[in-house]
Amino acid sequence: MLQRLPKQGGVGTAAASKCPVSTIIWILAAWVLLFQVYTTLYPPPTALTHPKNRVRSIIRYTEYEEPEFNRLPLPPNRNGKKRRPDYIEEFWSSSHKRQIYFPNKSSAIDPLTNNEDDRFYFHPGREWHDSQGRPIQAHGGGILYIPETRTFYWYGENKDGRTYHISKHSTARVDVIGINCYSSTDLWLWKNEGIVLKADERNVSSDLHVSKVVERPKVIYNDKTRKYVMWMHIDNANYSKASVGVAVSLKPEGPFKYLGSAQPHGFDSRDMTVFKDGDGTAYIIYSSEGNSELHVTVLAEDYLGFRNIMSRVLVHGYREAPAVFKHRGLYYMITSGCTGWAPNTALVHSAESMLGSWQLMGNPCVGGNEELRDTTFFSQGTFVLPLPGIPDMFIFMADRWNPYDLRDSRYVWLPLTMDGPADEPLEDVFEFPLWSRVSIHWYQKWKLPQDWDKVQI
Ligand SMILES: *[C@@H]1O[C@H](CO)[C@@H](O)[C@H](O)[C@H]1NC(C)=O
Ligand SMILES: *[C@@H]1O[C@H](CO)[C@@H](O)[C@H](O)[C@H]1NC(C)=O
Ligand SMILES: *[C@@H]1O[C@H](CO)[C@@H](O)[C@H](O)[C@H]1NC(C)=O
Repeated sequence: MLQRLPKQGGVGTAAASKCPVSTIIWILAAWVLLFQVYTTLYPPPTALTHPKNRVRSIIRYTEYEEPEFNRLPLPPNRNGKKRRPDYIEEFWSSSHKRQIYFPNKSSAIDPLTNNEDDRFYFHPGREWHDSQGRPIQAHGGGILYIPETRTFYWYGENKDGRTYHISKHSTARVDVIGINCYSSTDLWLWKNEGIVLKADERNVSSDLHVSKVVERPKVIYNDKTRKYVMWMHIDNANYSKASVGVAVSLKPEGPFKYLGSAQPHGFDSRDMTVFKDGDGTAYIIYSSEGNSELHVTVLAEDYLGFRNIMSRVLVHGYREAPAVFKHRGLYYMITSGCTGWAPNTALVHSAESMLGSWQLMGNPCVGGNEELRDTTFFSQGTFVLPLPGIPDMFIFMADRWNPYDLRDSRYVWLPLTMDGPADEPLEDVFEFPLWSRVSIHWYQKWKLPQDWDKVQI
């Protein structure tokens, strides 16, 4: 008996009969099937904590209001055919649509005239005034946070000039005025620090001459050189120069000294951004090869040049306006399509390394209606700001360009959270997704959690 017992129960022993082995296989198969059914019904949480917990923390921190935009009627399909509604065409031809997306001055967010109840509320798309009651001019911008002084610096294009076309088929433009800087401790009330990088009015060969293009400025701080480094897209009016420019300052409020421009490793570069990683490594990410792909290039240690490391990503993707952020050790990049000033659908990609490979995750926009979700809330992304002290919460910053009057382009800031599984199947990864869904939530009116800026970091 003692000798036989282990043989009966053992797997793979010579004495084991066919019957117990097939039973075990059937039991295993049943378990796999049950597990499949279970995971279909209850998809696994994709980040390290359960999404429910995170949602709860977001609700605790954030106050929202019902968006009336949700009730906007969808444009009718013509001839009853199923076709993608042409929101942009309709926008150009309908003053009603323009009034919705570009509400007039009477609805401006103005710290001098808004009543106390409206304080700290963001109203995406409304005119937004600085602490002196003047419209904020910081388009295509980005924000640098300085923990020591708990101050945010918002850098962006000053487009406060006349909109015109250099030729019949060229895109609308404004002469270069310079890069503006605004400072704030609460992200709502912004003090104008003035033009920190001025246009050159005389020298026609200068990159900063009024006739050129200076776009998408982004500033990062170099801990070793203790300098503030600004990178930006430099071009001529017909967009054939396709370079990146760099400027440097000893203080966040400028003035910045312009150092020159280059094509990174000889490649054309248009829409761009920079990203500084936790270890101090910085990257420049730009649309290249005629906007058909993005390049990720490592910046030199002083952030003033390029290292010989470059990766081609989103090849044949035709994406621009990259905005990069990091969450729980993984990198996320939000991009737009290439349709000039007209908005299009945003996409998120994610990666374990800045150099790739980048996995498509889908459209991050949630809430509102189909028109809003398909057009990145009628705007184009420019930056993602992590909220210091509040994990898992970010602000998505975008521009609602007004090609009739570029100075009147609006800011669309919305809460960005990380929850749930990605909505696109990831192509190359045969494992449970590590990646969280990126969600940019539409709200017509919202504010940050009470006292969020007083959280001890
Ligand atoms: C601004 O918009 C509001 C609401 O749409 C409208 O009542 C008002 O007449 C407009 N004001 C101007 C000056 O156009
Ligand atoms: C004009 O700009 C070019 C290019 O930056 C520079 O080489 C040249 O010295 C400048 N000329 C003057 C007069 O400043
Ligand atoms: C673009 O403009 C530059 C001058 O700014 C000119 O030299 C170049 O020939 C133009 N290119 C095209 C394709 O028009």
